[in-house]
Amino acid sequence: MSIDIDPTSLTIDECGQAFLTGFTFTDESFFHGVATRLRNESPVQWVEHEDVNPFYLLTKHADILEVELHNNEFLNAPRAILGTKAADDMRAMQGHLVKSLVQMDDPEHRDHRSLTSEWFLPKNLGKLEARLAELADRSVQQMLDGGGKIDFAADVAMQYPLYVILSILGLPESDYPRMLKLTQELFGAEDPDFQRDGDAFAGLLQTVADFVNYFDGITAQRQADPTSDLASVIANGVINGEPIGHKEQLGYYIIAATAGHDTTSNSMSGGLLALMQHPDQLARLQADPSLMATAVDEMIRWTSPVKHFMRTATVDYDIRGTTVKAGQDVLLSYWSANRDEEVFADPFKFDVGRTPNKHLAFGFGVHYCLGAMLARMEMKALFSALLPRIKHVELAGEPELVRSTFVSGLKRLPIRYEMH
Ligand code: HEM
Repeated sequence: MSIDIDPTSLTIDECGQAFLTGFTFTDESFFHGVATRLRNESPVQWVEHEDVNPFYLLTKHADILEVELHNNEFLNAPRAILGTKAADDMRAMQGHLVKSLVQMDDPEHRDHRSLTSEWFLPKNLGKLEARLAELADRSVQQMLDGGGKIDFAADVAMQYPLYVILSILGLPESDYPRMLKLTQELFGAEDPDFQRDGDAFAGLLQTVADFVNYFDGITAQRQADPTSDLASVIANGVINGEPIGHKEQLGYYIIAATAGHDTTSNSMSGGLLALMQHPDQLARLQADPSLMATAVDEMIRWTSPVKHFMRTATVDYDIRGTTVKAGQDVLLSYWSANRDEEVFADPFKFDVGRTPNKHLAFGFGVHYCLGAMLARMEMKALFSALLPRIKHVELAGEPELVRSTFVSGLKRLPIRYEMH
């Protein structure tokens, strides 16, 4: 989608307000035009709008890193992600519908994270290599079956990471399509293609209710008959000697099923698009597969599927000469940080050999993405299986990005290809 506004024609306040709508994230060049202006002209920008509680928008890598590292001065609660005033009010009155790691702070966060953190360590993930390779081969087979034309985003990238995370959770394959629909509704609540009943907030409530019903059933099963899967760890979790709370348990299932899905699939389809748009880099990677690790990180920096998280200051805190007052909120724009000219040489160049690559797409500090290593492994497995088979690949239609201010990436990537 292309937004017909020249970012240089906007006032700096309007550049800040552009971050309030998912539309901005459907047009990469518009987003980067606006973000680049903010980094250079107003890196700590106060954003106000009648429908949204105000906040400081941070667009520089160093400032985002500093906030992430000061997790006592900047808390995830109560406002971990951007929503409307109405949604903030509802949360203040009723609390979170479900509570996951990203809504918690220490010591609660530390206690809950340690319940599953071992699952995501190399020792355990190493055991998944064979399953990842099998699922990656299935994706390649799907492309062979596709007969030279496929929607890579919807038909390949959306499925593979979901299958991986649901395999880890231990859910039956027959439930995968239902999970796919629910996760897309959850993250694409702003996008008419995914939202229910044409109403973002009401649809979201229904989606969450469906998740709750489904996972309550899984909990009951795994409590009665525990297995060695991740769902059993969550269902039977004990925190400080007490069984894990219901909201926290649901939050865990949901964050595992959702955070591990759209994010990774968005970097896969965005990664393939970047390779198609930079054929020299595709050829370089095909000729030298030892670049796969740096290529995968470059795809993740390039796409930055998680567009933001927020924090609330507990003390008055100076950032670049602006005092963020205790109680005020800041929004961390990862996509902007990952194009920061002060950190990345030639940030708008897609370079499969980029080293160092200190991107913030997985965040930083105590909330650093629990699945970062898994995501990298999944991407390596997919592209290692796929790229040697690709003889030629090109766009067969317009790529389309999801309309969301939170997790966004390609929902459609029609491609034409020839395979070996
Ligand atoms: C390319 C793919 C991914 C990206 C870009 C991504 C990005 C992120 C980001 C930005 C955060 C917040 C970090 C912060 O606040 O500092 C996060 C947290 C998290 N991610 Fe990921 N993620 C990805 C894949 C995954 C996968 C595969 C899983 C698997 C389960 C996962 C699970 C989580 C969890 C559980 C958290 C919460 C951690 C906490 O608050 O302690 N993510 N992720």
